[in-house]
Amino acid sequence: MFITFEGIEGSGKTTQIQLLIPVLRAKGYECISTREPGATKIGEKIRAILLNANHSNMLPITELLLYEADRAQHVREIIEPALAANKTVVSDRFFDATTVYQGYARGFDLKLIEQMHRIVLGCLKPDLTIILDLPVEIGLKRAWQRINSQSGDLPEDRFEKESFAFHEKVRQGYLTLAELEPGRFRIIDASKDSKTIHKDITEIVLRLSHKGE
Ligand code: TMP
Repeated sequence: MFITFEGIEGSGKTTQIQLLIPVLRAKGYECISTREPGATKIGEKIRAILLNANHSNMLPITELLLYEADRAQHVREIIEPALAANKTVVSDRFFDATTVYQGYARGFDLKLIEQMHRIVLGCLKPDLTIILDLPVEIGLKRAWQRINSQSGDLPEDRFEKESFAFHEKVRQGYLTLAELEPGRFRIIDASKDSKTIHKDITEIVLRLSHKGE
């Protein structure tokens, strides 16, 4: 089973994945949690380039190619071997993020992005994609609180520095994808409290995992 989490900045994906994994393990599913960008050694380096706010002059095409490079490495090194070993893979973002951020928000041709995904992914697609949806103002406020409370390394805030309109396009992009492919996507109201969201997600995931048995 391959599950991905998507959403705008500050939507709580990482927290919800951390809550879900122990539930799945307790039910006897062998699972791994992974993320994009940055799941592999090479990917970590790509992530540092992509999210560094000093790289404000990064060309949109450079950004697109780096996300796809990170994904190619991620799929071959981590996702495909885990799925082949019958593990459940839970990924914090995957290819829908490129369709939405680089496509709907940055304006790259969606057909071009689709072609790149065919090259990088082949037939690989998540069985379930959970979108944590919430208003941009709430998400960005949470994201900045997290960034400001971190110390040490360079902050990964290149995307948080994008305009409100950019993030609104991201939000609407995810909602459009969910409309286009209702069988794969589930939208969760991420403005609710964390416990309620966790309960909603657990129900959806366990229902799907029972179906697959
Ligand atoms: P995150 O770890 O906070 O989700 O940060 C990853 C950032 O990268 C987030 O702002 C979304 C962005 N992103 C893209 O623009 N395209 C992509 O394909 C992926 C995976 C992430």
